Amino acid sequence: MSTHIAAAPGEIAPIVLFPGDPLRAKWIASEFLTDAVCYSEVRGMLGFTGTWEGHRVSVQGSGMGQPSMSIYANELFESYDVQTIVRVGSCGALTERVGMRDIIIANGACTDSGINRVRFHGLDYAPVADFGLLRAAVEASERMPLESAVHVGLLFSSDQFYSTRPELNDPFVRHGALAVEMETSALYTLAAFHGRRALSICTVSDHLVTHEETTALEREQTFGDMVRIALGAATSV
Ligand code: HPA
Repeated sequence: MSTHIAAAPGEIAPIVLFPGDPLRAKWIASEFLTDAVCYSEVRGMLGFTGTWEGHRVSVQGSGMGQPSMSIYANELFESYDVQTIVRVGSCGALTERVGMRDIIIANGACTDSGINRVRFHGLDYAPVADFGLLRAAVEASERMPLESAVHVGLLFSSDQFYSTRPELNDPFVRHGALAVEMETSALYTLAAFHGRRALSICTVSDHLVTHEETTALEREQTFGDMVRIALGAATSV
């Protein structure tokens, strides 16, 4: 048991899918894994281990934002020897190049967060995806019949959902950011620090340019495509 996860040693698989919402973790476990067992309910942040196409896979809720996500990622890497984390999340599109329900495979992440500024003494670090996982996710997506377009590009990991200064997104968009979410920059940094693999795959759930939003049903459907890509990638590297 680690500070925030109640699993015994060995109860968490080397591969972890990492949604923000613990109920999405439960949904993934029941829809995709066989013989799934819940290993932790601490703070309602559910975690499950089961089997997908012969591979042991866990699904752990991360909570929202880089501080919450970092607690779980650190404990998965340090206390449970997790080798691969694939975030499966939602994001808000920042450009009309990206449509509603599109899937973004993040090759890197920029951020307004102070977390990496503290870690790197005020200098800039470029958090990037594990290349093998990234390539495997692209290949998995090409093998599947998908409703949505798939993009590989930059995410902007913000510390604020309700930003009082949305104009601060503009320079990031001007330099290639496709969408905003709240976790990837810190996840990629922690994976690099621990020498493990990480990848973020996000579905566009809302559009900050066109102001469209997805329905709950649409989110469930596109979330399934993203989970299939994540499982295909994580189990093939
Ligand atoms: N902002 C930040 N995170 C998000 C958003 C957003 O608009 N949509 C989904 N995750």
